[in-house]
Amino acid sequence: MNPVSAPGLPWIGNLHQYRFDKIGFLKNLRERHGDLVQFRLGPHALILVTHPEDVHRVEMKNARNYVKASNFRAVVGDGIFMSEGEKWKKQRRLIAPTFHHGNLLKMVDDMNRKIGMALEAFRAVDHLPVELSESMKRLAFDIVCEALFGSRPADDFTALRQAMVYINRYLTGRFGALLPVPMSFPTPSNIRFHRALSTIDRTVWDLIGQKSSESASGTPGEDLLTKMMLARDPATGEGMDSSQLRDEAVSMMLAGFETTGHLIPWILHELAVHPAHQERLVTEIDRRVGQRIPGAEEAMDMPFLDAVVDEALRLHPPVWAWTKRAIEEDEINGRRIRPGSILYLSPYLTHRHPRFWERPDEFDPDRWTPELREKNKLAFFPFGMGPRTCVGRHFALLEVKLILIRVLQAWKLGPAPGHRTESDYQITLGMKRPLVLRLVRRVG
Ligand code: HEM
Repeated sequence: MNPVSAPGLPWIGNLHQYRFDKIGFLKNLRERHGDLVQFRLGPHALILVTHPEDVHRVEMKNARNYVKASNFRAVVGDGIFMSEGEKWKKQRRLIAPTFHHGNLLKMVDDMNRKIGMALEAFRAVDHLPVELSESMKRLAFDIVCEALFGSRPADDFTALRQAMVYINRYLTGRFGALLPVPMSFPTPSNIRFHRALSTIDRTVWDLIGQKSSESASGTPGEDLLTKMMLARDPATGEGMDSSQLRDEAVSMMLAGFETTGHLIPWILHELAVHPAHQERLVTEIDRRVGQRIPGAEEAMDMPFLDAVVDEALRLHPPVWAWTKRAIEEDEINGRRIRPGSILYLSPYLTHRHPRFWERPDEFDPDRWTPELREKNKLAFFPFGMGPRTCVGRHFALLEVKLILIRVLQAWKLGPAPGHRTESDYQITLGMKRPLVLRLVRRVG
């Protein structure tokens, strides 16, 4: 049996509904047609998969039958984010160790230093509304870039960040377009895209040159780019050439910059509008860290902080949807998946699926009991699951937790007058308006 098909208009299918209100449309699709349903965006047929067992089949059980369907190749080339098969396995073997626990521990001081510098800008703020989303996104980008490329002058990454932000918007626009204009046509947005890409390439190639000179002169840096440059595949003894290094560095930037950068403002918002949860978290921070600068072990060993972060990842997963293409025929929940079918997975929808989550739209960190974690382990996948799971997960969690601790050590967060948030479903899940919160100093 084929998956149920949602009715749509000739030629455009459901594109108009999807463009008008992505999540409203997808939720409605699931409610009316069930957990596995086909819809059409112009010429592309997609199958929405929301049941945790079915997601598990695609991402884990039969993962070798599914490849990435969204096309970021124009930006990340053949980097780990887009590569497949043996090539991907080799890249993963080379890159995963650079994120191991020992390396993360070495990054904590740099993260803390960057956080301290960013928060310094708010030092004098007390009882005042402050815009936080842009500053947190900038901080998250600086932290990823410093980890990737080592310490740089304060505003060295500004042009890089602006270029990445544009590229993210441009790619989202292409996904929702009926017939995207070929990238080589000189439309204003294509021209801007190619300019942004040149900015990124220039910077990354310069950095690769610098890092290889440092390594050649016997003073290799501690940054991830240098580690990737020096890494050798244990199976073959091979390393990466310069063009592969460029693709990996850009993959990391694309994957790592607006993900944590969007998550942090969502958490700050939830804490501001849930003062009781905020105070409980502050009590945990007081007990575990006090006013000291937190270390990795402390940040990673705070159960209520874990629950707050997981609950925010449940409600506002930064990578809220992605697509996978079937190579061969498969069967999911009794339905036939033909070769070439594009499956649409969305942690956002599964994380709020009323069959698996009580009061699915409510922010409630207390729900994260060990029993729930066990029962819902397939229904919660903000970092994906299976072999392609996020390689930067522990880095991201450490960064987010360090930032939250430092902010809450200094300020009590409250909503500013007229506070309202609205989700912005780009490639990552941001906010339509800047987040403005009222900060009240906790310490002098
Ligand atoms: C809260 C922050 C983050 C979230 C929610 C997140 C989520 C994800 C998701 C959902 C995937 C795709 C899984 C799939 O295709 O099945 C992914 C892949 C990836 N992420 Fe993250 N990510 C985050 C932060 C980061 C950071 C900080 C980095 C790097 C510094 C990073 C690097 C990567 C890479 C390289 C991949 C591709 C892995 C592969 O295909 O083998 N991510 N991430």
